[in-house]
Amino acid sequence: MNVDEGRAPSPLEEGVATKQSPVAPQRAIERLVREHDNIAQLLVVLDSQFASIARGDDEADDGLIRDAMTYMTDFVDNFHHGKEDLAVASVADRVESVRPLQKELNGQHLRIREAGRTLTAELERMLLDEPVRRRELATIGFDYAAQVRRNMEFEEGRVFPRLMEGFDEEACARIDARLGSPPDPLFGPAVHARYRALFQTLRRRIGIDSDWP
Ligand SMILES: [Fe+2]
Repeated sequence: MNVDEGRAPSPLEEGVATKQSPVAPQRAIERLVREHDNIAQLLVVLDSQFASIARGDDEADDGLIRDAMTYMTDFVDNFHHGKEDLAVASVADRVESVRPLQKELNGQHLRIREAGRTLTAELERMLLDEPVRRRELATIGFDYAAQVRRNMEFEEGRVFPRLMEGFDEEACARIDARLGSPPDPLFGPAVHARYRALFQTLRRRIGIDSDWP
């Protein structure tokens, strides 16, 4: 999502624009939404891989699945979800409507982290040719992708609009200082070496490009 493209702003963007000194908070939320769009595209590819695993055909690309899950459990769990948790925590003491959402959000992120670890462990067993019920593994994978999608819908539908009521420049600066604001290693300005094959696959299959300006 980019508000600089000459179209009418969405209600989400209009909500941001009503805040004082909105540039950093607005950009931070926009970046979170853009990361959601990227994650959604990655999940499309992951789902197709899980479908191949369930069918037992030769289309499943073990390396690609492993790289995608590394991105999810490294970058998404630690930095994307980390930013969201810190952003909500930063406004929860001032914006009453955010408080009931904070516990649910933290719980969803924790469950996604645990589900990602379980899925990764099962994938590693498959890669080591240990006995793995492929259909069960695929079910775990589909459930994981669905869980991440529900989390993103919850955030965009309920959390982000409330977050904008109190998210400010100071909170953004504190979050950046805490997490270091690392560039996205897959969809960011420079694709990390370990994700190059995955990025090429994403570009070939669903036509993605990086967030290069
Ligand atoms: Fe998110």
